[in-house]
Amino acid sequence: MSAAAETPVLAQTKARRFGLFVCFMAALAGLLFGLDIGVISGALPFIAKHFVLNDRAQEWIVSSMMVGAAIGALGAGALSWRLGRRYALALAAVLFIVGSLWSGFAGSPEQLIGARLLLGLAVGMASFTAPLYLSEVAPRQVRGAMISTYQLMITVGILAAFLSNIGLSYIADWRWMLGVIAIPAAFFLAGVLALPDSPRWLLQRNRAAEARAVLQRLYGNPADVQAELDQVNEDSTRPQRGWSLLRANSNFRRSVLLGVVLQVFQQLTGINVVMYYAPRIFEMAGFGTHEQQLWATVIVGLVNVIATFGAIAFVDRWGRKPILYAGCAVMAFGMCALGFLMHAGVVGLTAQVLAVASLLLFIAGFAMSAGPLVWILCSEIQPQQGRDFGIAVSTLVNWVANMAVAATFLSLLSTVGEANTFVLYAVLNVVFAVVVFFYVPETRGVSLEKLGRDLMAGKRLRDLGKDDLAPSARGQAVVKTNEAL
Ligand code: BGC
Repeated sequence: MSAAAETPVLAQTKARRFGLFVCFMAALAGLLFGLDIGVISGALPFIAKHFVLNDRAQEWIVSSMMVGAAIGALGAGALSWRLGRRYALALAAVLFIVGSLWSGFAGSPEQLIGARLLLGLAVGMASFTAPLYLSEVAPRQVRGAMISTYQLMITVGILAAFLSNIGLSYIADWRWMLGVIAIPAAFFLAGVLALPDSPRWLLQRNRAAEARAVLQRLYGNPADVQAELDQVNEDSTRPQRGWSLLRANSNFRRSVLLGVVLQVFQQLTGINVVMYYAPRIFEMAGFGTHEQQLWATVIVGLVNVIATFGAIAFVDRWGRKPILYAGCAVMAFGMCALGFLMHAGVVGLTAQVLAVASLLLFIAGFAMSAGPLVWILCSEIQPQQGRDFGIAVSTLVNWVANMAVAATFLSLLSTVGEANTFVLYAVLNVVFAVVVFFYVPETRGVSLEKLGRDLMAGKRLRDLGKDDLAPSARGQAVVKTNEAL
């Protein structure tokens, strides 16, 4: 049936279904990201035994993926501009398949490091392209929820990996566990090829008719399509710039810096300390056996998944900032409580239960706020002409900060002690809330184009998207600078 012959209700139902499909398929990138993050902690002891590895070689196996991810994120900007978001995701999917199979069949530690580097490239490319693509296809009223689905998939991937770690502790077959990730990766590849190109990317490539057709499939209603095109057109036909824009334009430098700061603070919440070292933390909290620690870790993964639904439900209703404040408060409280318990010594069942509850509270706080919201904000705050570059830089920083936090946790424990380490993370979460208050704009329901225009007009970061404010005197000066460019 042609679009014209369809009833409006039918067209909208079809559009809604198509939107869900697009959202799910693009978000599958997150699943692979999560699987690859989570699976190595369980597989590593078996790999170490198989190849008789020292600590250094093991560190390389773990961190090669992060190195690859940092490189992948950086290269993904140019790739997704040239190939388009869809083919960039497809390339990441191919790398996921090859990397998973190679790591499953690796004949030496060096090969495994190579395979993990390749997987890292895939993770980096996917973690850049998926939120960007989702932000570009999503209708603005549900943009937050659609990008949160990506984070939900990360958490599902991590949980699945934690569960497979338990399976692995029984069957002891690390090759199978690493190689099997090729199956969801193949599914992802098939799905990505069925996705439409991003309408904003098509417009920038002067392919307006195709952009309109994609929007029609996504919105189902010609009036909404036109409204969206009216918003998009004026800024979206400008070609992408990176370094040159950064050098020339102080407004762009502000949004790039904000993206970097947000990703650094996402990691400074301490989330990956819990993700990578959960069994160790549970050991400190008095859970003696390896089995107890693994199961407690699965509960962490489960809470991480469940709490992410909170963000999906509320991010487009309450807005980004209130959720971030609530999340920072919960995370700070959880870390602080854990610090105090460690200080007092976790002895007895009540103290153990309280320690687990504090950790779970922290995870819930992260999953409902900083987890999804940082990815959402980073894909929203960059102006159209520098979006690919801006998001590539913040994604790169996410991975570098991730490595830095993972690499310093054990030394922190031994230098400042367990209790102080957790209290330090609590303080960092409070600082995060302050940064949100002063610098983060409320982007709920605002079009990407308006956010970009406000930024380039010199509005304060926290005022981007607000209608009622005239640009400040400083802003007007910057407008002049921009116009001169
Ligand atoms: C972060 C990852 C983290 C994951 C946990 C993501 O948003 O970027 O570093 O491991 O959330 O769910």
